[in-house]
Amino acid sequence: MRSKVTVVGAGNVGATTAQRIFDKGYADVVLVDIVEGLPQGKALDMLEAGPVTGTDATVVGTNGYDETENSDIVVVTSGIARKPGMSRDDLLLTNMKIVSSVVKEVAAMSPNCVLLPVTNPLDAMAQKSHEVSGFPKNRVVGMAGILDTARFRTFLAQELNVSVNSVEAYVLGGHGDTMVPIVGSTTVGGTPVAKLIAKDRLEEIVQRTRDGGAEIVNYLKTGSAYYAPSAAIARMVESILLDRKEILPCTTLLEGEYGINNLFVGVPVKLGAGGVEEVIEFDLNDDELAALRKSAASVQELVDVMAAAE
Ligand code: APR
Repeated sequence: MRSKVTVVGAGNVGATTAQRIFDKGYADVVLVDIVEGLPQGKALDMLEAGPVTGTDATVVGTNGYDETENSDIVVVTSGIARKPGMSRDDLLLTNMKIVSSVVKEVAAMSPNCVLLPVTNPLDAMAQKSHEVSGFPKNRVVGMAGILDTARFRTFLAQELNVSVNSVEAYVLGGHGDTMVPIVGSTTVGGTPVAKLIAKDRLEEIVQRTRDGGAEIVNYLKTGSAYYAPSAAIARMVESILLDRKEILPCTTLLEGEYGINNLFVGVPVKLGAGGVEEVIEFDLNDDELAALRKSAASVQELVDVMAAAE
């Protein structure tokens, strides 16, 4: 039997994610949204691409949760997205309510699934999803670090005129202005990037990475990024469903690792059939560790605002 993946939210990120997973053909997909007709129409359109692309999995759209029963993975993208001038944090309380109600529904229908929150502000929404679902920490893992890292790798590859595949990097921390590109362990074809790009220029690239989401929002004006985000989600889904055990930067509950406690923050994890199978502790220098803890502190502020609002 094929695996089953539910994607909640049939907007830009959700629909593109559903399409990417459906196209791979190894999972049946359920697309859920509150807007009547939207998930049904998009799912049917995707399904009708099957004969052309050779995909014989199924994809259905629905406004309810019955069809999501016993999903292996549930991706949560429902919520509002940023407009120009907004930070991810401006979405906090609206998206907290949406994510809480969705997670309650999906956790009841698929008590053994791996939950993959994507809605922003990501780390806070992952924390909320963990709390509301009551799932063990290994089965709640947020998408952000792969996207931030992909942006960093894209800019470095452009700068050095090399394949993105030759750039190895990790961006850790919260998915926001305080994210932490780990320059010290970034290599290009095995050479430390600091030997290839001058310090000032490298700092500009790091800043562009931090502003990567806003750069897209400023172009689009009516929404935020979705092609790269959905690619990052599909990579996580694949590592879990195929038990690939890839080491990827994802948002996970830290319990003392990196000196951070009871907080969802982006760090490298081993992603396999069990979800987060291991939190990897990089050997960070003092500046990187301080930046990671500062980033965690800004996630904690959002978590505190959520707690005060309830
Ligand atoms: N249940 C199901 N779907 C919902 C609910 C709900 N309670 N509330 C909102 N939605 C749906 C909307 O109807 C919409 O179709 O979520 C979808 C969101 O889609 P978009 O507005 O296109 O937003 P998108 O770009 O997909 O971003 C979604 O992901 O990357 C993050 O910051 C982004 O938080 C945002 C989320």
